[in-house]
Amino acid sequence: MCGIIGCISRENCYEKLLSSLARLEYRGYDSAGVCLLSDSGTLRVRKKKGYVSNLAGKPIPGGAGIGHTRWATHGKPSDENAHPHLCGKFALVHNGIIENYAALKEELLVQGDVFLSETDSEVIVHLLSHAYRGDFLGALREVCARLCGSYALAVLCADYPGQIAAARRGSPLVAGAAKGALYVCSDVPALCGEAEFLCPVEDGEFVLLSDAVRVFDGQGRQIERSFTRVKSEQRAASVAEGTFMQAEIAQVPRALRDTLEGLEGTDFAPCARALRGAKRIWCAACGTAYHAALSFADVLAEKGVCDVFCTTSSEFRYKTPLIGAEDVFVAVSQSGETADTLEAARLAKSRGAFLIGITNVADSSLSRLVHFNIAMRAGPEIAVAATKSYNAQLLCLFYLAAQLVFFKKGSFPLWKGELRLLPERAEECFGTFGQMSALAAKLISAKGMFFLGRNADFPTALEGALKVREIACLFAEGYPAGELKHGSLALVEEGFPVFALSTREALFAKTENALAEVRARGAYTILLSQSEQALSQSCAHCKVLLPKICAPLYPVLSVLPLQYFACRLSLLRGMDPDKPRNLAKSVTVE
Ligand code: G6P
Repeated sequence: MCGIIGCISRENCYEKLLSSLARLEYRGYDSAGVCLLSDSGTLRVRKKKGYVSNLAGKPIPGGAGIGHTRWATHGKPSDENAHPHLCGKFALVHNGIIENYAALKEELLVQGDVFLSETDSEVIVHLLSHAYRGDFLGALREVCARLCGSYALAVLCADYPGQIAAARRGSPLVAGAAKGALYVCSDVPALCGEAEFLCPVEDGEFVLLSDAVRVFDGQGRQIERSFTRVKSEQRAASVAEGTFMQAEIAQVPRALRDTLEGLEGTDFAPCARALRGAKRIWCAACGTAYHAALSFADVLAEKGVCDVFCTTSSEFRYKTPLIGAEDVFVAVSQSGETADTLEAARLAKSRGAFLIGITNVADSSLSRLVHFNIAMRAGPEIAVAATKSYNAQLLCLFYLAAQLVFFKKGSFPLWKGELRLLPERAEECFGTFGQMSALAAKLISAKGMFFLGRNADFPTALEGALKVREIACLFAEGYPAGELKHGSLALVEEGFPVFALSTREALFAKTENALAEVRARGAYTILLSQSEQALSQSCAHCKVLLPKICAPLYPVLSVLPLQYFACRLSLLRGMDPDKPRNLAKSVTVE
């Protein structure tokens, strides 16, 4: 998703911008650009379709600069549509979507303005040029008041060398400071390699970077804002060799250890009243986090403590849910910046629900919005598609489920004691990777595949399929094992791969039936289970033995071979699993 950066630095401003843009790359993008403002007031731009590395060349002079990684929404990826956009004395970068841009553009065209791009963002810089009467921040405030939609903006004005103005509404923005440099940026992880201190910027606020960082409200009144020192776990990761995704899968046991340590040190007392009195639990998330939410609903439904509703954030927003003040709303988001999840949480908050957030990024928008935040502590996740954060999300959600059962029923579920075994069992899962590698090589030319699972195994099937779609760019679908014959069985033909997850003893025979049905129609079948007996009695062509843990906790482990399989398949198919086609890590627009 688009990322913006603004930097003031007397020395190496251009180099700092480029290295910040490289740190934003992981969010997913298709073009990039920078603009620097010299002390004499000259704006110089370099912007290109494709990678940040395309911007390398003779350093552009200037002590203030803005940069952008673009993920196309309005207009195809091209040099012209890349940001920064310029008009008159202004240069601007934008993350977000301006919903009323067509009407604004119409108005500007009538006045004779000429547009060089198809973007919604270019409208903003034109409006600035019209509104400007010598007051940089005043013009920005005036223009922002006319924008509908979401934005994080960083702006240069030729009359103000050494300064950057920024604004935020609905898209993430954070300010940072380091020795000799000041920043604004879309993203905490991307800024942490550059800045030593961070300061959040809230919706509706404006920032002026000059000799210091100053934050203003919508009326132009300065707001006191203190900086916090960057914590070591916030620093962006790097890998010596291989891909981030391979490294992040290898980090799952450590992530689970750190997550559990954090959870054990967390005081749940502030949410005791809300959990004890909760009439209903709502859980909303997107993508991989949604699959973790489904497992949370499963584990709670089994305990029968109260009604649990789980939905994707984008659906929750428009379903007019019957959520109220006696309810608890759990928002799950690795980045804590996903626009749909933030809006779903805001809606739940406006209805009086108690908000719990589960996030991996400290100081993210979600962590600041909720009443109670559970930090995942999985460490920075750079590959666009989530892996270790999923395992950590599940651990957090199961831990939260155990707290809820305790507050409602007075005792913890028996499986809570086994949470501490998860890191070691995750390591044991690595024993399946040889088999998964061989499978990836065997299935390299497959046209698609199915993943089946019943009950608690179903969200894992969905996640396995999502990983294959995301990073191997192959059609893959997850189904409840009993559902396939109601339509999708028609797609099964000779050699079509079908994975089945079977970790529930009571359902071994049922899942086996589904496998037998697809095998009879020529499918190449793969069964994953912890039961030697279920595997030995299965008709599956390939059998994968999972380590043992008590039943409700399997989702944390059984996804690991599937994550690894998808990663190997992606690499073998010549793709980069870290940067999948068309996808962004942090989806900050609706
Ligand atoms: C994007 C990413 C997914 C992620 C989803 C939700 O689509 O590519 O990997 O699961 O967003 O992200 P969040 O940060 O809210 O967990």
